[in-house]
Amino acid sequence: MLGAGTMGHALALVFALGGHRVRLTDSSAATLARAPALMRAALETLIEGGEAPDGFDAARLDAAISTHASLPDTVRGAAIVVEAIVERPDAKQALYAELDAMLPEATIIASNTSYLDVFPLIPERRQAQALIAHWYTPPYLVDLVDIVPGPNTDPMVVATLRDLVAAMGKQPVVFGKFISGYVANRLQSALSLEVNRLIDEGIATPEQIDLSVIHGLALRLPVLGHLMKADFTGLPMARNALANRTYTPPAARETSPTLEGLLAEGRTGAMSGRGYYDWGGKSPEDLFRARDRKLIAIRRAMREAGSMLEFTAARAGR
Ligand SMILES: NC(=O)c1ccc[n+]([C@@H]2O[C@H](COP(=O)([O-])OP(=O)(O)OC[C@H]3O[C@@H](n4cnc5c(N)ncnc54)[C@H](O)[C@@H]3O)[C@@H](O)[C@H]2O)c1
Repeated sequence: MLGAGTMGHALALVFALGGHRVRLTDSSAATLARAPALMRAALETLIEGGEAPDGFDAARLDAAISTHASLPDTVRGAAIVVEAIVERPDAKQALYAELDAMLPEATIIASNTSYLDVFPLIPERRQAQALIAHWYTPPYLVDLVDIVPGPNTDPMVVATLRDLVAAMGKQPVVFGKFISGYVANRLQSALSLEVNRLIDEGIATPEQIDLSVIHGLALRLPVLGHLMKADFTGLPMARNALANRTYTPPAARETSPTLEGLLAEGRTGAMSGRGYYDWGGKSPEDLFRARDRKLIAIRRAMREAGSMLEFTAARAGR
């Protein structure tokens, strides 16, 4: 596991929970040193919520994951190298070049990139063994994994990752080719664009927006997704909404004055105790634990409820 930041340490935990041995590194010694405590805290919450495999405890976690300062020590003997480093093409390209010199031909490289087309950054002779496997945070609770082959990826490598992820209890969605942001991140980007407009133009406050999302959008999403919801409201309504141009999307923008203002004040989010909201002096550990407990409760309810996909003809096996 390359990168031990927000995603890397959590992905190391996911793979360990899935029965794999993980070697973890980060170019920042401080980030790498922080990872074991974060993984242990997340594991505690999962155990408390009944979301860890039976008998999986801190000792098993320690046995499954080791941290390494050097890249060669980390990747030695690895069947799969998961790249979860900073989202910068130059950094990823430099890392892939380093890996090229040290990995056997059969090693799979799986990038967790959110938006980058990493395939042109990967040395040509590695491309058959390279793909994107993109997770969502926190990956030990969110099930979706986008699996994306490059133009030269061996279909066997795609099948290997899909099966590996499914065996960990996750929901792989395999795409035919790269598109920046896949589906879920593109939808989130569209949502962010609208939210930035509403906030920057003083139309709605963060609380009004989140109340609208939580009490307006959230309940139906796990049951109906988006297109099943359209079927239930009726497609004439979808056509009328398009034809009437009742909605004009905001123009693409590179910055948001509100966001820049918050960042200038050091309000970087839950990690610093303040972002759009003031988190009342709670530590990140406490905030993440509280978030994870609530997500676990929703996960359980989602599992029990299932979705209306069960009733669609293809799923019902008709
Ligand atoms: N944060 C999210 O919600 C999220 C979700 C899905 C995917 N991703 C993707 O995962 C990747 C990592 O994102 P993150 O949010 O964990 O970022 P992050 O900044 O928290 O962590 C990135 C880590 O990479 C380390 N790093 C940089 N260059 C390195 C190198 N050459 N070798 C080893 N370590 C190196 C940094 O020190 C840092 O700790 C990005 O590609 C991002 O797009 C992020």
